[in-house]
Amino acid sequence: MVTFLRDRGVAGASVLEIGGGVGALQLELLKAGAASATDLELSPEYEEVAAELAQEAGVADRVERRLGDVVADPSLAGEADVVLLHRVVCCYPDYDALVGAAAERARRYLVLSFPRDRRLIRAGARVLNLGFRLLRWDYRTYVHPPAGIAAAAERRGLRLAEESRGRIWQVAALERPLV
Ligand SMILES: C[S@@+](CC[C@H](N)C(=O)[O-])C[C@H]1O[C@@H](n2cnc3c(N)ncnc32)[C@H](O)[C@@H]1O
Repeated sequence: MVTFLRDRGVAGASVLEIGGGVGALQLELLKAGAASATDLELSPEYEEVAAELAQEAGVADRVERRLGDVVADPSLAGEADVVLLHRVVCCYPDYDALVGAAAERARRYLVLSFPRDRRLIRAGARVLNLGFRLLRWDYRTYVHPPAGIAAAAERRGLRLAEESRGRIWQVAALERPLV
């Protein structure tokens, strides 16, 4: 994900990472020259570690962290040059709404990673979800259709620029055509 953006150049860019966890990706982009990063995260669990990592990287003054759900409360995040969704689409039931909200905020690039839609991965997700149910956790994991994910972003004016696939994860990088 970072390679695509580094190749295109992130100097001076604003970054919005949705579901960024401790914010590792945004720290990489700040070190690569991005101007600022906003992390919008549902869970408050990451805040302490995220603050420590940003301090250690010497970029704490360029990181803003917000808590909430970008779909339920779109006012939580404004536009950014670069929007990231790293391993987040698989945690959200309504991928169209989530990817759509992310795409609407991407001035230049939207880069997402999500599980490949393969039989074995779908079976793994079912086993995980059974475990979550038995543990009485609300959390569920989803294997959404990759073509639908890209289409959700394309309907908001982005164009698929690059795709790559590992054994489990797939990355799609989209860009907004210059007018
Ligand atoms: C599997 S974790 C990935 C965290 C990080 N991106 C990484 O790869 O290490 C998915 C994260 O997305 C967050 N998340 C899911 N849906 C979200 C939403 N609608 N708005 C903000 N954060 C969301 C969850 O709270 C969770 O921390």
